[in-house]
Amino acid sequence: MLVLAVETSCDDTGAAVILDGRKILSNVVSSQMAVHQKYGGVVPELASRKHIESVVPIVTEALEAAHVTLKEIDGIAVTQGPGLVGSLLVGLSFAKSIAFASGLPFIGVNHIEAHLSAIFLEEKPPSFPFIGLVVSGGHTSLFRMDGFGKYLRLGQTRDDAAGEAFDKVAKLLGLGYPGGPIIDELSRTGNPKAIRFPRAVLSKNSLDFSFSGVKTAVVNYIKTHPEPPEGYSKDFIKDIVSSFQEAVVEVLVKKTVQAAQQQGLKRIVLSGGVAANQRLRQRIQEESLDPKLKIYLPSPAFCTDNAAMVGVVGYEYLRRGIRSPLTLNAFSSLPL
Ligand code: KG4
Ligand code: ZN
Repeated sequence: MLVLAVETSCDDTGAAVILDGRKILSNVVSSQMAVHQKYGGVVPELASRKHIESVVPIVTEALEAAHVTLKEIDGIAVTQGPGLVGSLLVGLSFAKSIAFASGLPFIGVNHIEAHLSAIFLEEKPPSFPFIGLVVSGGHTSLFRMDGFGKYLRLGQTRDDAAGEAFDKVAKLLGLGYPGGPIIDELSRTGNPKAIRFPRAVLSKNSLDFSFSGVKTAVVNYIKTHPEPPEGYSKDFIKDIVSSFQEAVVEVLVKKTVQAAQQQGLKRIVLSGGVAANQRLRQRIQEESLDPKLKIYLPSPAFCTDNAAMVGVVGYEYLRRGIRSPLTLNAFSSLPL
């Protein structure tokens, strides 16, 4: 089964052609980073406009790169939410239009479910059940996954998402947008032990997260260390960001491992933009020294927003005969 997938939930326009929910024939992502960079974050109105400009060329490119025409496609999958409604509506309306015009089966996909399923694009995906951590710009949640469509949420952030914290700290230090990859890069040569930022563990057995405290601690640290006339030194900045990153990563790893232990599960899957973070990948992989744990990491390109992961989920539903109506709407929040 060939699925054409479209993703426009935030600031990346993505289209992919996926064979049998696993094999990528094409996966095209057009980033709007250059548009939003000067504002220090995503401007929703600009994001929608940019998606309108990009969606037709990106989908055309995905079909061409896969060497297929629309006639050979068996179904269409598109992100329905959660995300920015204006952005979602562009991809959704476009996908509904081609489904209507071509008479192809059509399915709306939950963006979180797509992130959690990105691991199935890898050569050796896990079998169910497993613990899935989604860490992105909008979400930080832990799930027990017993199959496609069979999810139990074990915990989630009570305030900021991890990626949001990375972006806010980078903005505060004037480092640019998106902050995650910038902090990741700078941290490689910083000292993660330079400053002991707080780790919010909440109650002992809680699998919820909180990142507003660590973000505020960085704000307070900056306040108590005013910028000298010549500006902060590169080393000072590197130490702050790597200490901040260490605090976030430590909590993410601790709670994810705790979730596996509580559920008596061996397999752990990471997903979402923050799962591209080098230090997080390194730290969670260290946990696989424990024979009771097995860690699965999607390639960084499958961690950040892409349409291939939407194709994985779309295929799983379409092949079971599940369809969405063409009246389907977009939702800024959509529980899994
Ligand atoms: O999954 P994603 O592309 O979009 C959402 O669904 O939110 O995640 C984007 C988030 C941003 O907050 C970005 O700063 C963060 O993921 N991110 C990273 C890294 N790459 C992207 N955070 C830390 N380290 C990275 N290498
Ligand atoms: Zn995402």
